Amino acid sequence: MAKIAVIGAGYVGLTTGACLAHLGHHVTVADNDKNRIDDLQAGRVPFYEPGLDELVSNVTKTNRLRFVLGATNASKDAEFHFLCLPTPANNDGSTDLSFFEAGISEIASVLQPNSIVINKSTVPLGTAKKVQEALGTDGIFVVSNPEFLSEGNAIKDFLEPSRIVIGSCSTEYSERVAGLYSNIDAPVLMSSWESAELIKHTANAYLAMKLTFVNEIATLCEITGANIEDVTAGIGHDPRIGSDYMKAGPGWGGSCFPKDSASLAQVARSFGFDFTLLEHTIDLNQKHLDRTADKIKQLVPNNSKDKRVAAWGLTFKAGTDDLRYSPSIEVLKRLEAQEYEISAYDPTVKDTLMQLPLIEVTDSPYECINDADALVILTEWDEFKQLDMEVVAQSMRSANLIDTRNLYDKNEMEKIGFTYLGMGV
Ligand code: UDX
Repeated sequence: MAKIAVIGAGYVGLTTGACLAHLGHHVTVADNDKNRIDDLQAGRVPFYEPGLDELVSNVTKTNRLRFVLGATNASKDAEFHFLCLPTPANNDGSTDLSFFEAGISEIASVLQPNSIVINKSTVPLGTAKKVQEALGTDGIFVVSNPEFLSEGNAIKDFLEPSRIVIGSCSTEYSERVAGLYSNIDAPVLMSSWESAELIKHTANAYLAMKLTFVNEIATLCEITGANIEDVTAGIGHDPRIGSDYMKAGPGWGGSCFPKDSASLAQVARSFGFDFTLLEHTIDLNQKHLDRTADKIKQLVPNNSKDKRVAAWGLTFKAGTDDLRYSPSIEVLKRLEAQEYEISAYDPTVKDTLMQLPLIEVTDSPYECINDADALVILTEWDEFKQLDMEVVAQSMRSANLIDTRNLYDKNEMEKIGFTYLGMGV
């Protein structure tokens, strides 16, 4: 079994480290954040990902997973070095590689001959080649092995992936990295660095485009009287189209789709290619977020005397505590800018001071709706499907419901007394 260093104890690094240790490898996960390492050494996972705390606890007991402060302390004894560092977006959509490059500089001097440096972070096309040039060609090899982890489902996505993508300049290095995953039953796709990097960006940009297409059809359904649930069921049975990633919503978001789509568009521009389809996908998603906010304003106009909106769901989707580029936050920001009073409830969020300083975060979905003039459901948490909507309607000042995830049936909600707006229904 291999000796592995994982640089970065964020969501991708920690999942990667714990899963590789679960597969039998000896893994050291490093981070520069002392509090984070202290937490992990004390058995605390610093974010919410279902099953991860239990997995970390189990593999830590076997001594196959440990946590250290500083990348060199992990890399000095390892053969494989997974770079799982943040690659956020710059204002122009390009990727900020400063954390990534700092990690490489940190480990460069302690890398043993015959080591493999593996890019797990999502990076723009051309990065692996540049890293190889920076590290030199003297016995240190760079391999691109993008992650396809979906938050809330990360452990399953790692251990039962739809595919493993490995890009390098030599089959020998790709095969060494493939060997780390030999206990996983999945197709292994080997390619060049550039193709592996483009596969990652293309996957996320394609899914984002698919969702924008669905959201546009949902809007057309509203105008024409058709129903998006029937339309997506009708096309989803065609295996060439497929039924996944077909749920209309408030707009897509999260830590990956917005940044990866913008980065791919920027890569295309940098090569002189005008990727209009992708640029429009990004713009249309902003327009769709506007439309979602407009639905709320349609039922509670900006010039109303009372304009208190209750929001259920703040995270970018269910199953996570992640607020990065959350459509919920984006929609509520549009209301906050027009001085709507907002209360919110989310099972994993206790405050939103960083993103929305003015909103009141409550401790229960029922407390959230007191005196509200509208309720907007923004995240598809199961908890929101099981509430007593008659009680909800009676507790509100006005029974207006904007259901951006189509959790409830329009006719049933209207029978209860709600004025109901869904997405494309
Ligand atoms: C995504 C990819 O799925 C994953 O493979 C990649 O490695 C990282 O990016 P994640 O960011 O966790 O994962 O979110 P995902 O579940 O893909 O959802 C992204 C956005 O699309 C969310 O805002 C979600 O609510 C929205 N969505 C998804 C819909 O609106 N409808 C759908 O049918 C599916």
